[in-house]
Amino acid sequence: MTNLQHAIESAAALAANGNIPEGQRIALIEAATKLITALQKPEDAITKLTYWPSQFMCMRTLLELGVFSLIVERGNVTSAELAEATNADKILLERLLRVLTAAGYVAEPDVSTYAANALTKALATRPVAGLVEAIFDGGMKSFASLPEYLEKTGYKNPSEQADGPFQYGFNTPKVDLFTYMADKPKLQNSFQTFFEADRGSRPSWVDWFPVKERLLDDATKPVREDDILYVDVAGGRGHDLLAFKQKFSEYPGRYVLHDLPHVVNDKTLSLGEGVEKKQFNFFQDQVMPGARLYYMKFIMHDWSDERCLIILKNVTSVMRKGYSNLIIEDFILPPTGCPLLPAMWDMEMMAMLSAMERSEIQWRELLSKAGLEIEGFYPPPGDGTGIIVTSLKE
Ligand SMILES: C[S@@+](CC[C@H](N)C(=O)[O-])C[C@H]1O[C@@H](n2cnc3c(N)ncnc32)[C@H](O)[C@@H]1O
Repeated sequence: MTNLQHAIESAAALAANGNIPEGQRIALIEAATKLITALQKPEDAITKLTYWPSQFMCMRTLLELGVFSLIVERGNVTSAELAEATNADKILLERLLRVLTAAGYVAEPDVSTYAANALTKALATRPVAGLVEAIFDGGMKSFASLPEYLEKTGYKNPSEQADGPFQYGFNTPKVDLFTYMADKPKLQNSFQTFFEADRGSRPSWVDWFPVKERLLDDATKPVREDDILYVDVAGGRGHDLLAFKQKFSEYPGRYVLHDLPHVVNDKTLSLGEGVEKKQFNFFQDQVMPGARLYYMKFIMHDWSDERCLIILKNVTSVMRKGYSNLIIEDFILPPTGCPLLPAMWDMEMMAMLSAMERSEIQWRELLSKAGLEIEGFYPPPGDGTGIIVTSLKE
């Protein structure tokens, strides 16, 4: 037992120094989670889970009130000071904050006094706030009514984007989530901000995939100054495009960001020189033709196979045979032992979009139907999204 305790403490010290490679870090979290599950009495573990929504509710409410930013800005702050700054009842703030101090999201150095820890600081940042807002505001009503919805629909796998758990939970007209959000700036903004943060701390593919060796240094596929090097298909606010451009700035070629009009025409969106912003609807419009690389992250997982094939057609029809690659970044679910995060992400897809994450077999089926050859599946370090390199079939 002493040895075990010692091993756990050494791992904790290593983790605190931030010296663990990504794959090992995730494996250790999974092992530690299993240990906690085994140490907990089963009924206590389940009790904790059933009360868990209160944590997310408290976080969402305090975020709306700007409490995390206030704690970070002011250092130690009392509930009375927070009440004055937010116009919320002092006792209500104390009750909400009690949950988050117990859960470790906020420090509590004294009675009714709060201070920031690393989690509080993260909650005060724009991308993390976007994540909490989008997942809470876009998903929780659907989750709350999903068991009832599934019972009513005879436990069929939801697959209709405009008429599924989201529309049932929100009691909305029959439009998909993206159409629903288009005239709701606050929700739209939360989601676009969330897309910027949706990798969490997981490394970007440009840092772990051999982009240069595998894609950019191929002398048989030259890219000149006027050619298009990289098209981000539905790239949101261009965060992935900018990461790529910054990392490989020595390579010539143009960059194009495609997304819906209200996303790319947003006046606050500035991407600097060398990036063209193009509005499009991927069900109707083709992307810019003849690019060396087309990149699509978290797009296919939003849609059914049928709709994905329409989107893919609008890309494959302008790809150059033997030259263009379509890079898909999405989860590649393993056949067994799926990590918890992608498994839960799959449920978010069901709740919000009647869509799903895919296994390698499902990817092969879909991409083959789209006329694409799979050059390789590349699993990520840890539990993040993988990369699928494709090209037009010969
Ligand atoms: C899950 S987000 C992914 C964004 C980005 N690729 C990323 O991973 O951060 C889906 C993107 O698809 C865009 N989108 C949704 N429906 C679309 C449509 N019909 N045509 C073009 N883009 C669309 C959204 O605006 C959003 O930016």
